Amino acid sequence: MSAALASVPLPMHRRPAKLSPAAERLLRRIESRKAHLAVIGLGYVGLPLAVEFAKAGFEVTGFDVDVTKVDAINRGHSYIGDVSSQDVAAASKAGKLSATIDMSRLHDMDAIDICVPTPLRKTRDPDLSYIVLAVDAVRAQLRAGQLVILESTTYPGTTTEVVQPALEEGGLTAGKDFYLAFSPERVDPGNETHTTRSIPKVVGGVNEASTALAADLYASIIGTIVPVSSTQVAEMVKLLENTFRAVNIGLVNEIALMSHRMDIDVWEVIEAAATKPFGFMPFYPGPGLGGHCIPIDPFYLSWKARQNGFECRFIELAGQINSSMPAFVVERVGEALNTLKMSINGSRIHIFGVAYKKGVSDTRESPALDVIELLHRRGATLSYTDPHVPVLEHGGLSLASVPERDAARGIDCAVVCTNHAVFNYAEMPTRFPLVVDTRNALKGVAGDNVFRL
Ligand SMILES: NC(=O)c1ccc[n+]([C@@H]2O[C@H](COP(=O)([O-])OP(=O)(O)OC[C@H]3O[C@@H](n4cnc5c(N)ncnc54)[C@H](O)[C@@H]3O)[C@@H](O)[C@H]2O)c1
Repeated sequence: MSAALASVPLPMHRRPAKLSPAAERLLRRIESRKAHLAVIGLGYVGLPLAVEFAKAGFEVTGFDVDVTKVDAINRGHSYIGDVSSQDVAAASKAGKLSATIDMSRLHDMDAIDICVPTPLRKTRDPDLSYIVLAVDAVRAQLRAGQLVILESTTYPGTTTEVVQPALEEGGLTAGKDFYLAFSPERVDPGNETHTTRSIPKVVGGVNEASTALAADLYASIIGTIVPVSSTQVAEMVKLLENTFRAVNIGLVNEIALMSHRMDIDVWEVIEAAATKPFGFMPFYPGPGLGGHCIPIDPFYLSWKARQNGFECRFIELAGQINSSMPAFVVERVGEALNTLKMSINGSRIHIFGVAYKKGVSDTRESPALDVIELLHRRGATLSYTDPHVPVLEHGGLSLASVPERDAARGIDCAVVCTNHAVFNYAEMPTRFPLVVDTRNALKGVAGDNVFRL
């Protein structure tokens, strides 16, 4: 695997006419696969990246503060759905992949990719604390000739306003003594069509040499590299992409809410609209936004815009609509129970799918959690089935996933929150007195007891 890729000549990505001798040295180390690479943060983004670099023939060291992840990798075990344990074990056995919590080893690395979390604070302001800690660790070991790339999604300006000054505190200058770039990660967990390797990679450095070096590094594992003129452009690209999704989902959720009032089937509307061969792209309503990206990233942008005296109205409005969806689902559950003269209070409600989207185990920001919490507060007794999430601790509830074959026992209403492919949707209307379907997973399944969004 690595030999085939290692022999592919690397494209030149707007390589400046003249690179400094140090940059040339690093370039040669990258192109000959002799460069030793670091990936800081071995989660959904960092682990696939580390494995791809290792497959391409680089020696990769993963750095994480979580010792269980480090141990798992060193045992050849993957904890991320999109990465097989077989690949981790093969890379580790070949001496191409290892992991450590010892940040002092960053000194030996030629290139360092930072893939740590960027959540929001309770106040919905960016929480850069993970980036700051990771950058502190890099600064303590920084030496001339290294390439540092930030991949974590963040607001435009983070690389030059936060990362660069912190790294330069040690006396080295970005773009001259060491190289610095931002390259947003676009991985879509669970997507088998578009993978780390096939998704074009946008790269923007603090100067031409930084862009060229980062672009050449990624070209060793990714087919298409898109160099841009600055780190700010690269940062903004990612936020445009995710804001585009958040706003369009907000729009289609609003269309779903109004269609419900007008007794129009929104799913049929979208399906028909999607036959237009230009100028329309289907987005689908649902119980709300989930995951580490779409519910969070647009608020990084609106925060930064506010610092510049600009109010992002689309982002705020989409946020309001999307975050109101779990309450609408609960309203639909109430309406469904009403048809049997029942109330949420005292009913036994079973949730299908608690991960934030189909085919993944990630429950971060999952709207199913909000639905569960709202139903629990209204006095329902909850249970759930999710083959990807064996146990769930949320809002004072501690639940274990019930096998699907046992799920209907004593249940008044089933709610499909996540449309995992494995569920038997066709039988739901006969197995459960009521079914509330937030994802159109029961498309084509008849039943007077089925209530769609
Ligand atoms: N998950 C996605 O689908 C996705 C897609 C595109 C972009 N992103 C962005 O990529 C970044 C990482 O996201 P993720 O989903 O991989 O997060 P994650 O939580 O799965 O992984 C982050 C890892 O970083 C480690 N970590 C935290 N602080 C550290 C430190 N100071 N030093 C070393 N390791 C540290 C954590 O232990 C964890 O293993 C975020 O900015 C996210 O917005 C995520």
